[in-house]
Amino acid sequence: MLKIQENTSLQAYNTFGIDAKAAYFAEFKTEKELLDCLPVQLPLLVLGGGSNLLLTKNWDGIVLKNAIKGIEKTDETPDFVTLQVGAGVVWHGLVQHTINENLGGIENLSLIPGTVGAAPIQNIGAYGAELKDVLESVRAVHLETKTIRVFDKAECAFGYRESIFKTNLKGQYVITHVTMRFRKNPTAFNTNYGDIQAILAQRNITVPTLREVSEAVIAIRQSKLPDPAVLGNCGSFFKNPEILIPHFSRLQQKYPTMPSFALADETRVKVPAGWLIEQAGWKGKRVGNTGSHAKQALVLVNYGGATGREVQQLAEAIIDDIFQKFDIRLHAEVNIL
Ligand code: EPU
Repeated sequence: MLKIQENTSLQAYNTFGIDAKAAYFAEFKTEKELLDCLPVQLPLLVLGGGSNLLLTKNWDGIVLKNAIKGIEKTDETPDFVTLQVGAGVVWHGLVQHTINENLGGIENLSLIPGTVGAAPIQNIGAYGAELKDVLESVRAVHLETKTIRVFDKAECAFGYRESIFKTNLKGQYVITHVTMRFRKNPTAFNTNYGDIQAILAQRNITVPTLREVSEAVIAIRQSKLPDPAVLGNCGSFFKNPEILIPHFSRLQQKYPTMPSFALADETRVKVPAGWLIEQAGWKGKRVGNTGSHAKQALVLVNYGGATGREVQQLAEAIIDDIFQKFDIRLHAEVNIL
């Protein structure tokens, strides 16, 4: 039986550090514990690491924290190892495990906050790598029917910070395990991302090892992104917007240094939201207990004591301002509840 707590603060369970309360709260450590408490009659929120979540009010229902642990080798070939990992495993803990075992594939995703179970929901990505590059399948429980379904990669419908778990099937499934395939003893790495190359060069590394790539990524993240344990945040608050080429050309005349990234869809380019926010004068600006981070404008932070509403109001002010200045509408990457 799950131990259910009443009127519990969620402050320790969300990396923004927002002090919202849950009417009821429990942790499940196995798939069976989850199945045993279904169906849930109250509004249900399932939490992983709470690192992509902005709570703007108390949760008037039950919060279930996914605490399913375990890293299990399910297959091995001469070149690859397949691991099935519990959804409640801390993502960076898994990254460290793969580095120690000399398994390649998620080194560029080092130090991303959150849990393994949350990773497929938004197809986490950084420095030219995405979860979908290693993902084999996702095991999940259907909340209404209490049935288990295994989604293969295609069924997850991954996109940029997107999956079927955020769109068509939103709120219907709880992910319990994620299966990923890793390359044994890798020698080639994805170091094209500018900052990685710069760090390796600084360290006089020409042929990096798996661990050195991971360490370079960690160094970049630590230099730009605030540590949620010190300063509440959820990483990038907004997605990088995609705009039509004529729109970009118009803006480029006014802002010749405006960066952009090519997309598979050649009618559009992606522009960094962090650049737009910085240009608009928000970088490092503090508004009450919240603000845009001084080293990465895309990250909104809680200086202590901020309410979720306060952060949301700042986000709305930024969205309006960017729309007025650039005719671009930013969309939150963070889940706002
Ligand atoms: N930039 C600025 N000012 C800023 C921030 C960025 O001008 O304050 C410009 C710079 O031109 C820079 C470009 O934006 O070259 C890109 O910046 P950065 O490399 O920091 O990446 P990003 O596009 O801002 C994305 C992800 C991050 C991920 C990095 C590295 C999204 C929404 N964010 O940020 O992911 O770590 O790339 O791959 O796609 C997250 O999702 O929480 C996250 C941190």
